[in-house]
Amino acid sequence: MTELRAIMTDQGILQKKKNGDAKKALVIAVTSGKGGVGKTNIAINMAIAYAQMGKKTVLIDGDLGMANINVILNIVPKYNLLHVINKQRKMSEIVEDTEFGFRFVAGANGFSSIANMTQIELELFAEEFCTIGNADIIIIDTGAGIAKNVLQFIAAADEVFVVTTPEPTAITDAYGIIKIIATEMFDKDIHLKLLVNRVHSADEAKRISDRIINIVAQFLSFRIDYLGFIYEDPAVAQSVIRQKPFLIADPQSKSSLCVRHITGRLERIGIAAHAQGMQGFLRKFLKKS
Ligand SMILES: Nc1ncnc2c1ncn2[C@@H]1O[C@H](COP(=O)(O)OP(=O)(O)OP(=O)(O)O)[C@@H](O)[C@H]1O
Ligand SMILES: [Mg+2]
Repeated sequence: MTELRAIMTDQGILQKKKNGDAKKALVIAVTSGKGGVGKTNIAINMAIAYAQMGKKTVLIDGDLGMANINVILNIVPKYNLLHVINKQRKMSEIVEDTEFGFRFVAGANGFSSIANMTQIELELFAEEFCTIGNADIIIIDTGAGIAKNVLQFIAAADEVFVVTTPEPTAITDAYGIIKIIATEMFDKDIHLKLLVNRVHSADEAKRISDRIINIVAQFLSFRIDYLGFIYEDPAVAQSVIRQKPFLIADPQSKSSLCVRHITGRLERIGIAAHAQGMQGFLRKFLKKS
């Protein structure tokens, strides 16, 4: 028995098993070039879809300028990320349970100065940020565009979902943010996926994504994969007005089916396999700063 144990240890088998068993949260950042393309609604409803699959899910409002997940969820958060940045609260104190099955971290309003934090402040914030723990999936809804704090979250995530709509301006801005990611990120292993929102057909989405994927490959020598699409659907705007996510208010709507299709597909292709967890997040977050 001791021999067997010794052999296994020698070959690193026990060690491997231990690491293999250690669960690492998959960190997904949802971003876009142009504003208003549907990031927040997608992030919220994906969080619900994952929670409904039994995944421990945390949704973070990483939009530190105009945080509004709480508005769509009709929640009045006691604390938000600003309290963590200002060291008034611990991360564990600001994470809230929701009625939707996921836990939620509120963002801050009118605050844009992760960019103004000193290196030490930033490191403390990142370390604190990583104490969320006990999650399978962490979804970060970022602000649109290229603010430094957005890039910081993107750089640190395992997966980056870039959202566009069929509008030419959204498409060119999606290319813009992909270009910045491709040229500025240290971690060339970053996994980018493209999500086309507000389409009228699967063909339309495929045409748009093919165009972006080809241009990114040709001009940036970079890879972005097609993740899927969400139909233009009045259920989305209605859900915002009613302050109830569409996956809950209207689970059979076209948009709900699309979101469930996407999360189901992500599960099947096993994106969690390359999750680096919060340790990886911390390492990459600080590397970018
Ligand atoms: N699939 C859709 N079908 C119809 N309307 C949609 C769809 N997706 C988004 N919208 C509309 O777009 C609005 C903006 O969506 P959302 O707030 O999610 O965008 P955002 O990218 O997070 O914006 P911001 O850049 O300001 O954070 C929604 O309130 C809704 O009216
Ligand atoms: Mg938003």
